[in-house]
Amino acid sequence: MAKEKLIVALDVDTMEEVERYVSLLKDEVGMFKIGMQVYNSLGKEVVTRVKDLGGKIFLDLKLHDIPNTVAQATRVLTGLGVDIFNVHASGGEEMMKKAADAAREEAERLGITAPLVIAVTILTSLSDEDMKAIGYAEEPAQMVKKLGMLSKKAGLDGVVCSPLEATLIREACGVDFISVTPGVRPADADVADQKRIMTPKKAIAAGSHYLVVGRPITKADDPVQAARSIVKEMEEAYVN
Ligand code: C5P
Repeated sequence: MAKEKLIVALDVDTMEEVERYVSLLKDEVGMFKIGMQVYNSLGKEVVTRVKDLGGKIFLDLKLHDIPNTVAQATRVLTGLGVDIFNVHASGGEEMMKKAADAAREEAERLGITAPLVIAVTILTSLSDEDMKAIGYAEEPAQMVKKLGMLSKKAGLDGVVCSPLEATLIREACGVDFISVTPGVRPADADVADQKRIMTPKKAIAAGSHYLVVGRPITKADDPVQAARSIVKEMEEAYVN
């Protein structure tokens, strides 16, 4: 169902706001994204609270460290019972492989379902100039493709990318390799600070498996209605 593929970004400051949005939206969407802002201020309690309220979780902490440290952190996050979490692909193949292995081993040890482990390829905030300054030799699209393929080789389940790159990832890594895409805006929405955007229907048609949408839902006068109309736009892509 389309609604299972919609992830709401909970970029808020307080547990009360988290509780309000999860209670309102848990039957309308598939998952909630908890990022650095919320996790670093509220800690693992926020994960427990969202789960207690019946929400699934994409924990967006973008781990990037030496393989052993990432593997140990992965065990902790798997134990929290999150459904998806992510690492940076630029941490390298061994780091990603250790994370994927640790997630599966820890889930098996605990008797729970293993989380999907996905990789951030190239941050969509980086311009061509930024990429050159960092020292990347190739164009952003080439780097996304390269890092997507490396993530797959390391045994990861998918990547976070712009919906504009979802087709490229699908062609390079196959239809079962998941792409989770922020930068989605309904046709009539305020784009805010997002630059490279797609509508929900186009993002699904381009090959996105999960759409991440924040402010168009959380800042709407009626978040439930906003979520429903995005799901409706997604459904149009499956039908056509
Ligand atoms: O409010 P909005 O729909 O722009 O929220 C999108 C969410 O996805 C935010 O939490 C943002 O940090 C995240 N994100 C993004 N672009 C990326 C990676 C993550 O917008 N490349």
